[in-house]
Amino acid sequence: MTVMENNNLNNGNDTLCGDKDYFYVTTPIYYVNDKPHIGHAYSTVIADSIARFKRISGYRVFFLTGTDEHGLKIEKEANLRGIAPKELADSVHIKFKELFSELNISYDRFIRTTDADHINTVRSAFEKLLKSGDIYLSEFEGWYCTPCETFLTEKSLMEGKCPQCGRQAVKIKEESYFLKLDKYEKKLLDYIAGNPSFIKPDFRKNEVLSFVNEGLKNLSISRTSFKWGIPVPGNDKHVIYVWFDALLNYLTGLGYNDFNNGKNPDFIPFFKSANHIVGKDILRFHAVYWPIMLFALGLEPPKVVMAHGWWLTDGKKMSKSLGNVVDPLSLINKFGADALRYYLLSEITLGLDGDFNIDNFVLRYNSGLANDLGNLVSRTSAMLNKYNRGIIPGAVISEDEVILESARTILKSLSDRYDDYNFAKILEEIFAFINIINKYINDSAPWKLNIDEPDEKENLLKILKTAAVSIYYISYLIYPFMPETSGKINVTLNVIPFDSVGFLANPKDMADECKELFKDERRISEKSEILFPRIKLEE
Ligand code: ME8
Repeated sequence: MTVMENNNLNNGNDTLCGDKDYFYVTTPIYYVNDKPHIGHAYSTVIADSIARFKRISGYRVFFLTGTDEHGLKIEKEANLRGIAPKELADSVHIKFKELFSELNISYDRFIRTTDADHINTVRSAFEKLLKSGDIYLSEFEGWYCTPCETFLTEKSLMEGKCPQCGRQAVKIKEESYFLKLDKYEKKLLDYIAGNPSFIKPDFRKNEVLSFVNEGLKNLSISRTSFKWGIPVPGNDKHVIYVWFDALLNYLTGLGYNDFNNGKNPDFIPFFKSANHIVGKDILRFHAVYWPIMLFALGLEPPKVVMAHGWWLTDGKKMSKSLGNVVDPLSLINKFGADALRYYLLSEITLGLDGDFNIDNFVLRYNSGLANDLGNLVSRTSAMLNKYNRGIIPGAVISEDEVILESARTILKSLSDRYDDYNFAKILEEIFAFINIINKYINDSAPWKLNIDEPDEKENLLKILKTAAVSIYYISYLIYPFMPETSGKINVTLNVIPFDSVGFLANPKDMADECKELFKDERRISEKSEILFPRIKLEE
């Protein structure tokens, strides 16, 4: 079967059936008080990479991202700018969309919490829980951090300041609706114990457990002191707390309203597969409050909450409110989207923090992308043009199995590594493979072989074939991380891009795929563009 014929190869495949072939991935929805920075790019690129991997492995994927547009923080920023909050949201959400388009983010829906169907979800969930008694009216007195939109206990304050962002907390006292958390404490602990891969990475689990074990206090979920939010049904003196509103986006995005009307059979299997990608700053909301909201609504918690670390500048968390952010668009303009994606995903192991350093970025770009990957593709295409009229030899010439075996070894553990979000390791292995081929070409020195000698000619063709097929493997392997580069390599090899194919990432299928694809002689594109031009550090 050729690559063109293998669209949806997994439909009907035994290994992917039932609930297993659904994959739902989400990013946080981002506040619209300011334009995006590389922290937002990071979460979104992680989600995009796993979405792409699952798609090319034959899963039905739904990828949701978007913006969080209500709350005091947005109202304040809009007031500062002298515009209405909705106007601010309208202009800033476009900046996120523009960035995601530049980054080639393959989301299925960009949700805004001001979307009509979302407002519907929030109001109907609120009403349902009010009716069931999980939400009740009382009075709140305590501390609040507006930049984090978080309620704080007196004990957690650091000299009156928020322990998370270090800004002044404010004391508030107002009538409020509460969500019962204590009622579900045991159920949550059982869920965490029974689902070891619910919180990723594993080392984050303890901080969630110790928070829950301190005893959960019922959560205030409405405010009366400002207006910019979804009004509480039947009591519009109150607006619904921004986190109660925001978390429900994960249901709206999947078509919760249709599901409630009995019209969306995909809703449950998709939601059962949910992987929420979040920063460690908002793990508690996703691993404590959100599962409890879902229990109360009669649903199960998500499958995975993956909490990644922070990008820092000079040791401090990069954040729009601290004003120390790196602009992703300027990096994309200079280096390309894939260079940024590569750096973000390979530089830090998911879960850990990392310092963003431009000198290091350029070094990694020049060595990994320009020298190793870029050079391999351009020298392979140059050799094919020079020694074999731009033709990849067909089935009569077989590849060097030892070399291809190293690529197939990567495939063996690929799926597990993705499920562990061990992207840095996958990239490390891909780049080790790139170096193996570069070394193979250097050592076998095809330029020294004499084309007029039949044995040497055959050897030369074998080297060319091995390099070309290896590049195809690399294109496949890098596709989820660097889709644009993968597409360019496929154009060079004259095969269709991976966006539209679906086959399992196992060594056997890949070997069969290559056998079929390179059965006949294949002419490569005449011109191959330089993938990653070298950059001088001074620039
Ligand atoms: O918290 N390093 O929105 P937000 C890495 N609206 N990731 C970072 C980062 C950094 N320095 N800074 C931000 C909110 N992020 C809520 C979410 S979800 C139902 C509601 C990423 O605009 C990271 O994913 O403050 C973090 O969790 C998220 O952006 C916070 O974005």
